[in-house]
Amino acid sequence: MQPLQIGKYSVRYPLIQGGMGVRISAGRLAGHVAKSGGVGLVAAAGIALNSGLYDGRNFFQAETEAFKAELRKAYEIAPDGIIGVNVMVALSDFEPLVKAAIDGGAKIIVCGAGLPMGLPELTADHPDVALVPIVSSLRAAQLIVRKWRKAYNRLPDAVVVEDPDTAGGHLGEKMENIGTGEYDQYATIRDIKAYFRDECGANIPVIAAGGIWDRADLEHALAEGADGVQMASRFVCTEECDASDEFKQRYIDCTAEDIGLIMSPAGLPGRAILSNKENIRQYDLDHHTACRMGCLKKCSYKESGERFCIVTALDRAQRGDVETGMVFCGTNAWKADRITTVQAIFDELFGDVPEK
Ligand SMILES: Cc1cc2nc3c(=O)[nH]c(=O)nc-3n(C[C@H](O)[C@H](O)[C@H](O)COP(=O)(O)O)c2cc1C
Repeated sequence: MQPLQIGKYSVRYPLIQGGMGVRISAGRLAGHVAKSGGVGLVAAAGIALNSGLYDGRNFFQAETEAFKAELRKAYEIAPDGIIGVNVMVALSDFEPLVKAAIDGGAKIIVCGAGLPMGLPELTADHPDVALVPIVSSLRAAQLIVRKWRKAYNRLPDAVVVEDPDTAGGHLGEKMENIGTGEYDQYATIRDIKAYFRDECGANIPVIAAGGIWDRADLEHALAEGADGVQMASRFVCTEECDASDEFKQRYIDCTAEDIGLIMSPAGLPGRAILSNKENIRQYDLDHHTACRMGCLKKCSYKESGERFCIVTALDRAQRGDVETGMVFCGTNAWKADRITTVQAIFDELFGDVPEK
């Protein structure tokens, strides 16, 4: 299998571990994925929660400190690994988190949940840091490329194309357009590749994300024109994943019917395990909570108390309260049937196929 070239980094296996916010992919998971030969991503969103660095008042400061601490942890596990970050554009502290990622030695910055129009400006003094937007459409890729070329004379080092019909977490598509059968992930990937080739004269890797679980899915993605895959849900049920045992067990216990869409206060649909959906909002009502952190630029809970506090709901689940917490997952999470290791997943995906 060809290595994946992202900017100046050659990744042994064409696999990025998708960023999973609020400490589902922190330093331990990212470090082990990088050690096994993929790209490990520490997700920035809510990284301060359950880090021991947040004292109830210093959220933004604790976010950048915890982010750097998790990057250090990842590098202790994989000193030469390709370790990067996922920073959601929708976060209030997007800019300081990008700076903290650079300070912490991130080699790759992946940005989703919004279009990272100004990202190259923030990294201008660090041209080796590879920049990778997440999009769901050719149009979004074109908007980013036009702006980056004009304002910064820069192209993305890779693009992740996330399929709203299968991916976990926040999705870059309107609720009513999800699950209609109209979205064609691999046509989108081929269109974006052709756009880079024809309009930019560049061979930029395009990575498929969403619904990739096993070797057959990986081979299918590559055969359909993707240069690599981004996988998130598959890595949750590993010993190294930073989530609680209860969070992982939810994946093992859930059925395909338990997984669905919920409108996030961020104004985007999200995919999660919905069996405890009613309890999430009820928790905030019972505890008379209000927005304490202001983690998102735009949030209906912050602005008017509508829906629920998403970062604390994700944090509760990360710590083990899966009754009132929110468990984000992709459509394939029900396929998890045991706790395994990161290396065992790499062996299955990339190991020699035994001769029949
Ligand atoms: C628990 C969980 C948390 C996630 N958090 C983030 C996040 O913070 N930022 C982001 O860009 N994507 C996030 N995602 C999306 C993943 O990075 C990934 O693109 C997507 O889930 C891929 O689909 P898969 O889970 O079927 O492999 C999350 C996904 C999951 C399952």
